[in-house]
Amino acid sequence: MGGADKFNNQQILVVGATGALGGAIARQLKVEGADLIVSGRDQRKLAALTAEFAGSSLSVDLSDSTGCAQLAEAVGELDGVVYAAGVAPVVPVRYLKDADIEACLNLNTTMPLLLIRELLKKKRLKTGASIVWISSVSSARGTVGYAAYAASKAGLEASARCLALELAPKGIRVNCIAPGMIETDMADATAERISDEALAAHLKAYPLGAGQPTDVAAATSFLLSQESRWVTGITLPVDGGFSI
Ligand SMILES: NC(=O)c1ccc[n+]([C@@H]2O[C@H](COP(=O)([O-])OP(=O)(O)OC[C@H]3O[C@@H](n4cnc5c(N)ncnc54)[C@H](OP(=O)(O)O)[C@@H]3O)[C@@H](O)[C@H]2O)c1
Repeated sequence: MGGADKFNNQQILVVGATGALGGAIARQLKVEGADLIVSGRDQRKLAALTAEFAGSSLSVDLSDSTGCAQLAEAVGELDGVVYAAGVAPVVPVRYLKDADIEACLNLNTTMPLLLIRELLKKKRLKTGASIVWISSVSSARGTVGYAAYAASKAGLEASARCLALELAPKGIRVNCIAPGMIETDMADATAERISDEALAAHLKAYPLGAGQPTDVAAATSFLLSQESRWVTGITLPVDGGFSI
């Protein structure tokens, strides 16, 4: 973890801060001196985060682009944006509902892009700002039951590469992190939907075992900071060796 002045009052928006990974990211950035604006939907969790961080919070539903416009309206000029909101409808394709596919592609792929569009329109991204989107190792690996989720994350990474090129002249960097299995409620819910044998086989694919939310937070901090000033358009695997 970096020192308390790593982000020296930089304005960083963390979307999905009420989630396991977003919460861990927000905690680390706060310790490293960032001035946080956290967003999510759950009012109770948001109130707890605001009390913990003494920062500002925005309750915003990202079911459609209105939520992105609301966020862009409410924030000031930003040094960093983290998008850690997401859903994972992991089921065999014949049980996938239209609405689940739509919600997954919408929240995981469309909204991060529309949020950046709205922030740019409102001139909310400073020169040198850094954008970090939380993807998944499933973007690049076929897994039974992951068809919608994997597509949403592959699309996210493709958008990030294009945005990285488009925004480089403004000195704005765009990168993704692809976590593997992190010990969270989302991973538990996914594990419950597959057999014990399939879960054991999946865990075997992690040479360093399952990860912790703090592992993703540390990588996010790196990509937001000047330590990665010459890094853009990448997807950084944070996966205990899964992708080897
Ligand atoms: N956990 C893992 O093992 C893992 C591995 C690889 C990638 N990831 C990715 O990492 C990201 C975070 O995962 P997580 O484990 O932290 O998930 P999580 O705990 O379920 O958090 C999900 C976040 O998304 C927000 N959200 C859901 N629907 C929303 C909507 N309609 N509008 C606005 N916000 C909404 C939730 O807000 P509220 O709670 O306030 O409703 C929450 O902040 C996801 O993109 C996930 O795909 C996770």
